[in-house]
Amino acid sequence: MKIGMLTSGGDCQGLNSALRGVAKSLYFRFGKDVEIYGIRDGYRGLIEGDLKKMSPSDFSGILTLGGTILGTSRQSFKTMCTPMEEYNGKTKLDKMLETYKKYKLDALVILGGNGTHKTANLLAQNGVNVVSLPKTIDNDLWGTDMTFGFQSAVDIATNVIDCIHSTASSHGRVFIVEVMGHKVGWLTLYAGISGGADVILIPEIPYDVDKVCDVLKARKKNGKPFSILAVAEGALSKEEAKLSKKEFKAARASMKEPSISYRLANEIAERTGQEIRVTLPGHFQRGGSPCAYDRMLTTRFGTAAADLIANKQFGYMVALRDNKVVPVPLSEVAGKLKTVSPDCEEVLSAKAMGISMGI
Ligand code: F6P
Repeated sequence: MKIGMLTSGGDCQGLNSALRGVAKSLYFRFGKDVEIYGIRDGYRGLIEGDLKKMSPSDFSGILTLGGTILGTSRQSFKTMCTPMEEYNGKTKLDKMLETYKKYKLDALVILGGNGTHKTANLLAQNGVNVVSLPKTIDNDLWGTDMTFGFQSAVDIATNVIDCIHSTASSHGRVFIVEVMGHKVGWLTLYAGISGGADVILIPEIPYDVDKVCDVLKARKKNGKPFSILAVAEGALSKEEAKLSKKEFKAARASMKEPSISYRLANEIAERTGQEIRVTLPGHFQRGGSPCAYDRMLTTRFGTAAADLIANKQFGYMVALRDNKVVPVPLSEVAGKLKTVSPDCEEVLSAKAMGISMGI
């Protein structure tokens, strides 16, 4: 049996641990009857036929290693079916199917997030035996309660907020910590609550800057001159939420500040006169070792993916639902985002603690 494996999209903690989980389980079960091919840089390697035969030792000692031993890249789903001059009129999909056939692969194991799953589904619809694993620090993949990478990123972002707390309180300043997440706010919500932020702003709940300022002023009046705001990089104001997609893009393109946090900082400084600083942990949130939770989750996902392969059950993503690992059809996952509902338990819990969601 020949299995191809690839990691695609933005990296996150736990990718190597997940590859290890799948590979060790397959080698343990099938011994010499299984060959694993590592596909370099995600779909790029599948398109260009850039594969490497792996050996069991490649998957040893990587449990705690950040990043991905296979490399990754972002390949837009929109371009997958477009004929390309550089491929003599063939599409990227054609090229991927060619590689799959050329190497006589029996299945592909695909580790990725939202964009990756659209292409994984496309491959499955075109006869490829696909099993996938859900990764992303955003935890925004539909069909699973949890993606791997998320908890590790929450730990890092929370630690940043913890560190900011001491300097913010010493100086009596307002701090904005900008957390990753362009479209969804799970990471900001979890890190904000875990770090004890006073205000949490996420894309799903457009904020009112005056309401945010009211919170900061009230805190100062009550003897708390410092405040911490956890702001998702995709947070938007209630005025912006009314714009069309095109108008919103244009408005953001003409914004003079480098990100939403800096604009908000200027608006707050103008309105309250308070001293304010911005901190951006950025890609730090995706780096380093997976936390113990993610090591456990990726091992469970990895062995479940190996089970699906052994049972020839293809076209599924392994998912966590009610703390059980279950297969979910790729067709159900592809193209859907798991966003934060404004009345989900976590948001209600934040509100019940007096945390402002900016409204
Ligand atoms: O999807 C994961 C993620 O880290 C998002 O939270 C973030 O908005 C984006 O990737 C950053 O992308 P890039 O690595 O391409 O800068």
